[in-house]
Amino acid sequence: MKLISKRIILKDVTIKDAKSIAENANDYDIWYFTESIPHPYSLENAKKFIRDCMKKQREKPRKSYGFGIFLKSEKKIIGMIDLFKIDRMHKKAGIGYWIGKKYRKLGLMSEAEKTLLDFAFNKLKLNKIKGEAMVENKGSNALFKKFGFRKTGIFKEELIKKGKKKDAYHWELLKRNYKK
Ligand SMILES: CC(C)(COP(=O)(O)OP(=O)(O)OC[C@H]1O[C@@H](n2cnc3c(N)ncnc32)[C@H](O)[C@@H]1OP(=O)(O)O)[C@@H](O)C(=O)NCCC(=O)NCCS
Repeated sequence: MKLISKRIILKDVTIKDAKSIAENANDYDIWYFTESIPHPYSLENAKKFIRDCMKKQREKPRKSYGFGIFLKSEKKIIGMIDLFKIDRMHKKAGIGYWIGKKYRKLGLMSEAEKTLLDFAFNKLKLNKIKGEAMVENKGSNALFKKFGFRKTGIFKEELIKKGKKKDAYHWELLKRNYKK
């Protein structure tokens, strides 16, 4: 499964992607701002993650799309974007993502998120996408706002990082409010 845009291709990951996933996921901020990505992040962590993704790729119908973000100019995966908990009855799903440190603030996650939202709304015919980001995660909260997500609340003490309890914003986007 592949979704192609200007600079990137969203694609199902394979075991060949383990090295580039391990290199890019091995980053303090990715651990800090996400729920369960380990730090440090080893090649073995990447292989286990990919094996889990490959099992999910075989589900029919699929309940998730964990896409690698393949940068055309470097011919490698530099991040991940995930549509998960796809609920076809109620036409909704969750979204999550990360991108390697040196590829940030170049608009690449905006491009990946637009591609995934187009796919979710137009191909999968979903109606609602939900996301969460730690209050202090400026980049992720900016991304949600940019696409028209509505902040629906705050989850108090949702994550514990470095022994400190962290609040997270909850966001949702209805298809009719999607700003492309
Ligand atoms: C959050 C993250 C995915 C953003 O990716 P990115 O490729 O840098 O995002 P973009 O370049 O497309 O930027 C999107 C918008 O957010 C803004 N932004 C990005 N990082 C920012 C930061 N650290 N502070 C303030 N604004 C930021 C950009 O200016 C841009 O706004 P604009 O389109 O109005 O100019 C990336 O920083 C990351 O992977 N962080 C670590 C993991 C993580 O936080 N994952 C999400 C968990 S909820």
